[in-house]
Amino acid sequence: MRLYVNIDHVATIREARKTDEPDPVQAAAAAERAGADGITVHLREDRRHIQDADVIALARSVKTVLNLELGAHAEIVRLATRLRPVPFQATLVPEKRQEITTEGGLALRTGDRRLKDAIARLQGAGIRVSLFIDPTLKTIDVARELGVPAIEMHTGRYAHTWKRGDAALKALTRAATHAKQIGLAVHAGHGLTYQNVKPVAAIPEIEELNIGHSIVSNAVFWGLEEAVRRMAQLVKG
Ligand code: PXP
Repeated sequence: MRLYVNIDHVATIREARKTDEPDPVQAAAAAERAGADGITVHLREDRRHIQDADVIALARSVKTVLNLELGAHAEIVRLATRLRPVPFQATLVPEKRQEITTEGGLALRTGDRRLKDAIARLQGAGIRVSLFIDPTLKTIDVARELGVPAIEMHTGRYAHTWKRGDAALKALTRAATHAKQIGLAVHAGHGLTYQNVKPVAAIPEIEELNIGHSIVSNAVFWGLEEAVRRMAQLVKG
């Protein structure tokens, strides 16, 4: 099992002030020092958190794997293919401007020209492509037909319902088994927290988890005392 750490929300805090801290490049290095196997960022069309310059800097600085999440927008696909070194992985996600976060998986169709074109361009640049999809067998079969090596299962339904029963966990397990059987690498993520991650991490077919919001949220508390202590020292001498 690999843990990829999504650092979008480090940039969210920076963009709230349009300043230069906190720096996602520093966050990526800290995550790697702590054992992250990869760094995930989502370059959204509206650039609400991660900026083009962050992706370019991360492509140079990340020592593990850069997993770039992106919608199938020609302009962003072009940027991904021009990164040097190329990111190891690109995860295509659906994107709606109004959404707070990625609310569901891609509605896959084999005839989707825009998606097929994005996959072809990314793969042509030597990038490993993954598709962010809901954990249904039919969608997984379409992902296979689209010729990608990997899928990321959206764990949002599980994250919303895990306290009330195990139906969503069962669906994830079934989907992971099927995907692996037909030759896809299985990733998962969205809404995973310190409280709900264990059962998903225990699904043997899943080899990569992408986790962001909960890690950055808890980092605030695990780092706040030290940050106040250092400022108090400066202010009070
Ligand atoms: N995977 C994908 C494809 C995502 O879009 C996101 C959210 O940006 C995540 C994983 C991480 O989700 P969370 O921030 O809820 O851990």
